Order: sequence, then C-alpha cells, then structure tokens
Amino acid sequence: MTDRVCIVTGGNSGIGFELCRGMAAAGFHVVMVSRGTERGQPALEALQTEFGDSVEMMLCDMSDLSNIPTLHAAFTSKFDRLDVLLNNAGAMWGKRENTAQGHEMTFGVNHIGYFVMTQTFLPLLKATEGSRIINTASEAHKVASLKLNDLNREKKRYSQWRTYGNSKLCNILFTRTLARKLEGTNIITHCFHPGVVRTRFGSGSSGLMRLFWPFFRPFMISSKRGASTGLHLALSEDAGSTTGEYWARSKRNRGNRHARNDDNANRLWELTEGMLDE
Ligand SMILES: NC(=O)c1ccc[n+]([C@@H]2O[C@H](COP(=O)([O-])OP(=O)(O)OC[C@H]3O[C@@H](n4cnc5c(N)ncnc54)[C@H](OP(=O)(O)O)[C@@H]3O)[C@@H](O)[C@H]2O)c1
Repeated sequence: MTDRVCIVTGGNSGIGFELCRGMAAAGFHVVMVSRGTERGQPALEALQTEFGDSVEMMLCDMSDLSNIPTLHAAFTSKFDRLDVLLNNAGAMWGKRENTAQGHEMTFGVNHIGYFVMTQTFLPLLKATEGSRIINTASEAHKVASLKLNDLNREKKRYSQWRTYGNSKLCNILFTRTLARKLEGTNIITHCFHPGVVRTRFGSGSSGLMRLFWPFFRPFMISSKRGASTGLHLALSEDAGSTTGEYWARSKRNRGNRHARNDDNANRLWELTEGMLDE
C-alpha cells in the first residue's frame, strides 16, 4: 500500500465532508469517520460517486472513547500508514449531557475526542514520513472562560456557548502542547478557525441560539470555503514550514491571549491525561 492515507473525523457532514472531498481530490485515500451509518452512508455514497473507492467509511462515536481503539484496529488491519489525521468531529450541546466515560459531552467529544484519537494513532503517524495532525478549532475560543479546576463544568451552571468556547480553546491549547511534544519528529500539527459556516452546526443547541441561528445561515460561508484553511494546513508547503499554530483564512493567526498561554496548555494536557487514567 503506497497511497497516502488520511482520516477525517466528522467527515459525513459540513466542513468534514468538504475536507474529505479536498483530500480525495488531492490524491489521498480518505477514511471518512462517521458516528453512524444513518448519516454516514449517504455521505459516503456522494463521495464515492465523485471519487470511487478512494473514499471509505469507518465508524466511531466519539462520545464513547472505547470506540477509538476499535476504529484503530479496523484502520490498522487495512493500512500501515497515516499521512494526515484531521480531528474535526464536534458540536455544541444545548443542555448538559455526559459521555460514556462521564465527561461533560462538549468537553468530552470536542477536546478529549481529539486528544485520544491523536494519542491512539500517534505510533502510526510517527511511522509515516511527513505526517500531519490538523484540528478544527474556532474563533469561539474568544468566549471561553476555561477553569482548569472544573473542566467538566460541574461547579457552574451549564452554558452552551461558554462550554463550546472552552472546548475550542482546548483545541488550540492542545495543538500548542502537541507541537512541543512532537519536537524531534517530522510530524506537523496545526489548528484552524473555518469561518462561520453553513453546516448542521447549532442543530443540537437550545434556547435563543436554536431559534435565531437559522436566520444567520444566508450570511454564512459555504462548507467548501470553510474547509479551505484545513486543506491548506493538510496540504501546503507553507503550513509544513512551522508547527503548533492557530490559523484562519489560510493565514497564521494569534488567537487571543488565553490561546497563547503555554502554562495553561501544559496543565490542560496533564489534567486530560489524569482524567483518562481515572
Ligand atoms: N459551522 C461553523 O460555523 C463552525 C465554526 C467554527 C468551528 N466549527 C467546528 O467545525 C467542526 C465541524 O462542524 P460543522 O460545522 O461541519 O458541523 P456539522 O455539519 O454538524 O458536522 C459535525 C460532524 O461531527 C460529527 N459528530 C458530532 N458528534 C459526534 C460524536 N459524538 N462522534 C462522532 N462524530 C460526531 C457529526 O456527526 P453527525 O452527522 O452524525 O451529527 C458531523 O459529522 C466542529 O469541530 C465545529 O466545532 C464549526
């Protein structure tokens, strides 16, 4: 097997679907990871109409971390390389829910999901020359109020935006520490804001957000444009010349000061590892 291979999580919808299209168009064999066949199969068929067997589907619901080793086993039974991991599956939850492991759902899927996917596939990424890990983050990190002593937001009333913003800040902090931990390897990692994109995002929200979000849809950018920065990071020489950065509109972006706090980034890493050891 010599084809370059990539994984796109949340690949059946929105930005992820266009990431799959872009990677397939660039000549990669694409594993579109979907949480189920109901929404995965139609997306797979659409992609296969365009790209044939160079796109396939594997299943993994990230709200139960025990699915990730199963995905890894399915993947490694077919492939001995992973060139690009695109951690993209994510959402905003309108009310408090928990993952199978008892983590708050937004934090669990949007942050811990990326973390465990990356750790699980790291040996294969390390074994693949010039591999990349690209994480979909968001400008919503600017509404975060991340409390490292309350990552599951148990001490505060649930707020969908704050909790979502926290998880997207975690994506940026995770990317920074990951880059530091990958020093000495050839693996590049970056994260990006896709723009405000017309996807299914917001469909699980509640209250005013659920009511008014659809009115903004005509002003949002297409999923294709939303995926363009992610594809730039996965494919370009430009993005390959540095690592650990946050990007928007295919350009390096500073994010806010919380997104540049390496002490918090390192602490988040340790705390996440600790939660996974429990
Ligand atoms: N849309 C925006 O304006 C915007 C802005 C900034 C960042 N983002 C980020 O972009 C990423 C993609 O979102 P999108 O806008 O493309 O929304 P979307 O159309 O709703 O796509 C989200 C994808 O994530 C999957 N997903 C959700 N929960 C999952 C779980 N528990 N396990 C596995 N997969 C799961 C969804 O699966 P199902 O199809 O089964 O629901 C879907 O494939 C997210 O990380 C989001 O935070 C979006």
